[in-house]
Amino acid sequence: MARSATVFSCSACGHESPKWHGRCPGCGEWNSFVEEARPAPTARVGANGVKRSAGRALKPVPLAEVQAPAVARLCTGIGEFDRVLGGGLVPGSLVLIGGSPGIGKSTLTSGALGNLAGAGHEVLYVSGEESAAQVKLRAERLGGHALSVPIVAETDLEAVLATLETEKPDVCVVDSVQVLYDPALTGAPGSVGQVREVAGRIMRVAKELGIATMLVGHVTKEGSLAGPRVLEHLVDCVLSFEGERERTYRTLRALKNRFGSTNEVGVFEMADQGLVEVEDASERFVTEATRAPGSVVLCAMEGSRPLLVEVQALVAPSELVPPRRVANGVDRNRLALVLAVLARHGGVSLGTSDVFVSVAGGVRVDEPGADLAIALALASAAKGIEPAADKPLAAFGELGLTGELRHVAHADRRLTEAAKFGLDAVVRPGDGVRTLRQALRGAARAHAA
Ligand SMILES: Nc1ncnc2c1ncn2[C@@H]1O[C@H](COP(=O)(O)OP(=O)(O)OP(=O)(O)O)[C@@H](O)[C@H]1O
Ligand SMILES: [Mg+2]
Repeated sequence: MARSATVFSCSACGHESPKWHGRCPGCGEWNSFVEEARPAPTARVGANGVKRSAGRALKPVPLAEVQAPAVARLCTGIGEFDRVLGGGLVPGSLVLIGGSPGIGKSTLTSGALGNLAGAGHEVLYVSGEESAAQVKLRAERLGGHALSVPIVAETDLEAVLATLETEKPDVCVVDSVQVLYDPALTGAPGSVGQVREVAGRIMRVAKELGIATMLVGHVTKEGSLAGPRVLEHLVDCVLSFEGERERTYRTLRALKNRFGSTNEVGVFEMADQGLVEVEDASERFVTEATRAPGSVVLCAMEGSRPLLVEVQALVAPSELVPPRRVANGVDRNRLALVLAVLARHGGVSLGTSDVFVSVAGGVRVDEPGADLAIALALASAAKGIEPAADKPLAAFGELGLTGELRHVAHADRRLTEAAKFGLDAVVRPGDGVRTLRQALRGAARAHAA
């Protein structure tokens, strides 16, 4: 009987079987079977019956002697995108861009390819999700060199790889890795086995030919990248394009980057002619900041860039047990910690109130330096203190569990950014302000000033 070209294996224990199982007979794990191409036999048996490797032995080279010519990065012409990548695309690298439906993944990658084509690079857009006509409509909207990007609309992996091998572009976009399929596997496109195979084979071709490849990826309902975890290990950079569809601001951040920092964040706004970079993000957030109780401007750091964002809090009496805790743009656990420290060490107990905290503009802040701003916003919302000054209150600092304030990185750059927008009264850990209580008093003084 002919052997099938594929085999099913358990992603938990590696058990192999010619057919799919709902539950692994080896380890009992549910839903762990994925289809894979059957590996070619590699071992040969020596004279004494011991298995010998069929490969040829390699000569190890000291790292100092390895040739590594400095390669120029490819600039996508989108400043924020280049910054998140760590200074542009590295030739031959593989970048995975994930984001929810309609967030602007295709818009961003089309814009980047258009600029690269305009700069004289060979580019290729592989669209599996949209027809060539649909992509053209978007390119017309984007303007610039977007219309000069060559496109193939194809979902068959073999055809796509053959095209890459013949065209040998400098940069290629695959939109998306979930719709391409390998005809040798029976799994549906987007299934774990298919995605792993598609990404793995594209990676081999891209590395061999030095094609910088941007893979567009889908996300699950929970917001993590769809497909196997190995997909994220395989690629050089994982970028996540976030933001809520109804809000205008979208942020691009690196979750993994082999060629740069993962702290950088790009801020974009969706407009008619595509994604517009927001370079003066601080200015917008500060001018939009309300001077009402419960509003504090946080001097945050987004990678190497200081960013001022407005943190808003609302505290309302609740009948619910336990009361509501709603956090938008900040981590729920961080909010819980701030509430506990505020109750224990700040004398502001909100155990019988609903608490809502939100970072304006749909931005997410994920740094300990946000604690103090959240605490001050909550205290001001709870007490209803109306600021007397016409400037919003600014703050940054980390809260310790014993109610102490801790220093955070880049204090001087945060202060400079705040001063740039006329925010001179910044409550922060420093001389005379070492505990949450002192910070609360400092904030009250700043309000009264
Ligand atoms: N004419 C237009 N004017 C302004 N914005 C538009 C226009 N057409 C589309 N958009 C915006 O572009 C978004 C779609 O962008 P895009 O197709 O790049 O998203 P995507 O992430 O690739 O989506 P998908 O997951 O469907 O591939 C829409 O959600 C909308 O916000
Ligand atoms: Mg798309």
